[in-house]
Amino acid sequence: CGIIGYIGDRNAAEVILKGLKRLEYRGYDSAGVVIDDGGKLDVRKGAGRIDDLAERLGFLEMNGNRGIGHTRWATHGVPNDINAHPQKDCTGKIVLVHNGIIENFAELKEELLKKGHRFESDTDTEVIAHLIEEELKNSENFEEALRRALKRLKGSFALAIVYADEPDRLYVVRNESPLVLGIGDGEMFAASDVPAFLEYTNKAVFLDDGEYAVITKDSYVVKRIDTGEIVEKPIHEIEWTLEMAEKAGFPHFMLKEIYEQPGAIRDAIHGNREVIKSVAEEIAKYEKVIFVAMGTSYHAALAGKYLLQRLAKKAPLVEEASEFRYEFEDLIDENTLVIAITQSGETADTLAAMKLAKRKGAKVLAIVNVVGSMATRIADLTLYTHAGPEIGVAATKTYTTQLTVLTMLAIELARILGTADEKYLEELERTLERAPELVEQVLGYNSSLRELAETLKDRKDFFYIGRGISVPTALEGALKLKEISYIHAEGISAGELKHGPLALLEDGVPVIAINPSGRVFEKMVSNMEEARARGAMIIALSDRKELERVSDVLIEMPPVDELLTPIIYVVPLQLLAYHLAVLRGNDPDKPRNLAKSVTVE
Ligand code: G6P
Repeated sequence: CGIIGYIGDRNAAEVILKGLKRLEYRGYDSAGVVIDDGGKLDVRKGAGRIDDLAERLGFLEMNGNRGIGHTRWATHGVPNDINAHPQKDCTGKIVLVHNGIIENFAELKEELLKKGHRFESDTDTEVIAHLIEEELKNSENFEEALRRALKRLKGSFALAIVYADEPDRLYVVRNESPLVLGIGDGEMFAASDVPAFLEYTNKAVFLDDGEYAVITKDSYVVKRIDTGEIVEKPIHEIEWTLEMAEKAGFPHFMLKEIYEQPGAIRDAIHGNREVIKSVAEEIAKYEKVIFVAMGTSYHAALAGKYLLQRLAKKAPLVEEASEFRYEFEDLIDENTLVIAITQSGETADTLAAMKLAKRKGAKVLAIVNVVGSMATRIADLTLYTHAGPEIGVAATKTYTTQLTVLTMLAIELARILGTADEKYLEELERTLERAPELVEQVLGYNSSLRELAETLKDRKDFFYIGRGISVPTALEGALKLKEISYIHAEGISAGELKHGPLALLEDGVPVIAINPSGRVFEKMVSNMEEARARGAMIIALSDRKELERVSDVLIEMPPVDELLTPIIYVVPLQLLAYHLAVLRGNDPDKPRNLAKSVTVE
């Protein structure tokens, strides 16, 4: 989602509308604005694109010099007029917009309902406004109430808040969702991203997690949520052009999205922690499980299969949705669980497979990124990946968040079915919590991967090999390369190497071997030797230094339980494909012949 706030002498609605358009790439299913019109908080919002809404709701006819706006990418509650932000409390005096996910919102909502609060929307955001209202009863002033309320929130949140009784200020908050102040001369801005205000000022103050700010037209003060202490913040002079700023300084959306993965994985964990158990309970009773998906989502499904095999002792089928829809009619019934994985929720083949499954009485669980998309309407149950909008055609952060959700699901199923040791499951959960850090660490290899790409950019064929849970990673690495660099690549399970592909290996052909510590490590070493003996250039991804002996290049990965390697190991492969594409003069965001969402059969 995108947030923008303004306080100064200009017409706030104009500044906010421009800012929202600049932020539209962050989410665009609904939008809304609140403007303080001489003490009356004028709220206008709705589902739809910003330009249409601006006209329909008359954003530019609003008067006032203080306000906030929001462009939404739904997380809780489908995109509609009521769920659009801003949201407000019972009195209508506390009006706010939010970016992120409040993990404990259900529990807070129940508590507030008991205290007589009434809610209009299904959003987690509205709960925050009511919580502040409630805390205000026991606080000396609004700021104290705000701090008290914030301390009770779990999850990720960036907020901008107007309070009717304090006409000279805005409040903004940051916790695991971005928020930056724009410092003007006699005016102040706040936004989730610099492009929203770059036209007016290039002086920015970036809030850190656990901080909030009180801004007036001439001042700002940043404080810590927990202690209320003032924090001195440096002012950054932004030198980006508007176009660069939209991509947060990255040259392409794809690279930006690769770098967003730590945050996206964190959101996927936060966003599912409360719901995963009940979904797992619903699906635990199904013996027959079939994954359906296409493209990168299909690779996530394959990883899901390995996770379910290893943890829940289930052996699911994984079918391309385009095959399933014509082959499985007689093979499914009400005892079947179909798990459809689709980032967009709009892929025609996947939707058709889901409809077929429903018609035959099967239970359908969808794992989707886009809230309210068609897949969520067909499915009986939906889990969201919470990756935020992905603009680059080649899927990156939606893949790692799909893997995150699947890992959580497999752990919970194993717990319900009693198929794995509880201590081990807890250890896996702790490691998953660390996945964002580990991905961060691997992102640190970016420049060495770029150098590696320099040496590889004229190669014509690449092979990606793996075994066990690394097979999907090999397939996904190869797919990324094909999609954006247009180099021929094959992803194969290493056991198949001898049965054909070995004939294609000759001097210098890059073979990327994904080989983390685990049950098939030694077997993979033999496969690497086989390829090396044919003169292939071996590029290994592993936590085991001894692989230097059998590889030309070793990309050293952090040690992590084998079942979590898909999330971490795909990251260098995304970066390698990205650099190869750029070095070959391609636009990785818009690969030729491909579409972000394939809505035809
Ligand atoms: C297209 C995209 C891929 C994506 C696939 C499935 O081919 O280019 O990146 O993996 O569709 O999309 P879905 O939205 O169903 O995950």
